[in-house]
Amino acid sequence: MRGKRTAVLAAAISLVSGAPTAQAIVGGEPGSVADTPWVVAITTADGQLICGGALVAADKVVTAAHCATAKGAITATQRAPEQLRVVAGRTDLRTKDEGVVAEVAAVWRHPEYREVTGGDDVAVLTLARPLPHRTIAVGEAGDEGVVLGYGRTAENSPPAMTLRKATVPILSDQECLRKEPGYRQGAMLCAGRGGKDACTGDSGGPLVVRGRLAGVVSFGRGCARPAEPGVYTRLAHYRQVLGF
Ligand code: ARG
Repeated sequence: MRGKRTAVLAAAISLVSGAPTAQAIVGGEPGSVADTPWVVAITTADGQLICGGALVAADKVVTAAHCATAKGAITATQRAPEQLRVVAGRTDLRTKDEGVVAEVAAVWRHPEYREVTGGDDVAVLTLARPLPHRTIAVGEAGDEGVVLGYGRTAENSPPAMTLRKATVPILSDQECLRKEPGYRQGAMLCAGRGGKDACTGDSGGPLVVRGRLAGVVSFGRGCARPAEPGVYTRLAHYRQVLGF
């Protein structure tokens, strides 16, 4: 009897804490830059993972505004371009020979961006030089998408540092609104029903629908918790302001 009760308790605790399910992004599988050459990692000058991103032109990376934001004690200001690096063509960030590391010449954050849950969580980094990697076009959402990133494989694990991907269902605006009261219809999308999701370190990274960049990883309640979707910036809404 005691054993059974302990097991039930353990299951309950793992539900509450959103404990590790399988692998990662969370619940994902290995990705490869051979298949998705436009996926990039955004790091500090000394190689610490900040976020993901996607190459939309030879010298332009779309990411999240919060990835380009430095949190100070009182104010949140834009990160200086010289503090950022874009790593392209590298499946395993722990290797140093695969792909390239590019410097950032300029950072543009959406002018209305204030905080991550408020939306307009989109930024564009202009690289100091064009990269040879294939780019991805911005597109519309659909029924499901593939999210890619180098981030955590569970809420409390370190980032994978190798590219991972997961297929997630894209929910209706009604469902997203029920889950996330601050959800902004038209400017956000939400995806995932638990088990598979983006996590810390995946922010700014791509959600791909039918080969196009439909979303940018923005925020979530923990990662991959049962019935909790991840929230993404809906890129189609920002086409005008982005200019691609
Ligand atoms: N904000 C997190 C980051 O900076 C990622 C959020 C995504 N979370 C999620 N459960 N989908 O990396």
